[in-house]
Amino acid sequence: MVLINENYLKLPENYLFTEIEQRINAFNIVHPNTKVVRLGLGDVSLPLPEEVVLAMENAVREMGDIKTFRGYGPETGYQFLIEKIIKHDYNARGISLEQDEVFIGDGSKSDVGNIGHIFGRDNIIGITDPVYPVYENAAIMGGRSGNLTEQNIWSNIVYIPCTRENNFVPELPKEKVDMIYLCYPNNPTGVALNKTELKKWIDYAIENQTIIIYDGAYASYITENDIPHSIYEIKGAKKVAIEIRSYSKTAGFTGLRCSYTIVPKELTGYTLFGEKVGINKLWKRRATTYYNGTSYIVQRGAEATYSPKGKKQLQKNIEYYLTNASIIRNELINLGFEVYGGINAPHIWIKIPNEVPSWKFFHQLLYEANIVGTPGAGFGPSGEGYFRFTGFSSREDTIEAMERMKSWKK
Ligand SMILES: Cc1ncc(COP(=O)(O)O)c(C=O)c1O
Repeated sequence: MVLINENYLKLPENYLFTEIEQRINAFNIVHPNTKVVRLGLGDVSLPLPEEVVLAMENAVREMGDIKTFRGYGPETGYQFLIEKIIKHDYNARGISLEQDEVFIGDGSKSDVGNIGHIFGRDNIIGITDPVYPVYENAAIMGGRSGNLTEQNIWSNIVYIPCTRENNFVPELPKEKVDMIYLCYPNNPTGVALNKTELKKWIDYAIENQTIIIYDGAYASYITENDIPHSIYEIKGAKKVAIEIRSYSKTAGFTGLRCSYTIVPKELTGYTLFGEKVGINKLWKRRATTYYNGTSYIVQRGAEATYSPKGKKQLQKNIEYYLTNASIIRNELINLGFEVYGGINAPHIWIKIPNEVPSWKFFHQLLYEANIVGTPGAGFGPSGEGYFRFTGFSSREDTIEAMERMKSWKK
């Protein structure tokens, strides 16, 4: 008799965005002629930058020619891409990295979840709340969550509330955590941490032998000066942090899939007997066993994002989404909403007026204004009473949604 991983039974039936899709489908069945404007989901709307397309076209040709065909590539990524990452994303910010500290992946969602494989099951996980739901889901699937309590939180996860009361800046936990997920600029609040705020976490991690999993999926949206683009800009971070970055929101790779994970060699964990073990070699062992490398074509596409032309094209797209975000931000402020984010991130986070619960607000907006956003409660208990919009839709849809908000608010 085959036994299942019963942790999966603890999960809510649907992942947040699957649940939202189902509710939109239900609306569409009853209102087939109504156009819904979507400012909810996290997908991009602009096509791939031209330089990326050209590089991938060339790569496809190479794959179709016996002289240049390539089969399995290096499991951890091609040197040509790793070199560009180190030079442009790290050396340019005063950070040195060795090539075997960089692991190319197929999107950061995979690594955010997979990273748990190399850590002991009894580690206490900390997550800021609200946050990207994969961290909590992964802790549940990996058997690290404990049980769901009456407060609708997991008994073995330490939640670090980020609310308007603390300006969405997480305070250090009173309990000791062994692994903490930090995502900055943050999804969903759109808030970024400055260097002083982030340094507190590095100091905490060094003192408590904690590992930080730093999700920098939105680093390219940072516009303000004092905001670190990489956690390694803070001294000591290489001893305690893994950083995960993605080309999805930076270069429109949501449908292509490419990311990278930095695991510094200075980073260590411990055996039950207190022996220090390098994390880098564990991750390498995992990658070489479970993964056969991101496709050559996609890695050539990712490499093209670092060429001078590629960089300009990416920047133009990021500015487009940030302009959408500022249109949403300004309109909602004009309409009297309490608004956060949207400056160093494509996300806009609002406090829902009159204590309306976030799923109720989702339905009101969908059925009365035909706009889709994301209910804050889907990102964690402290997200209740908040709502997320994103700047990833087209300009037309963004403007249309704000017009609808104006008419709805009247
Ligand atoms: C915070 C955060 N991390 C990771 C991801 C996953 O991105 P991908 O798997 O496309 O790289 C997302 C996607 O929305 C995200 O918001």
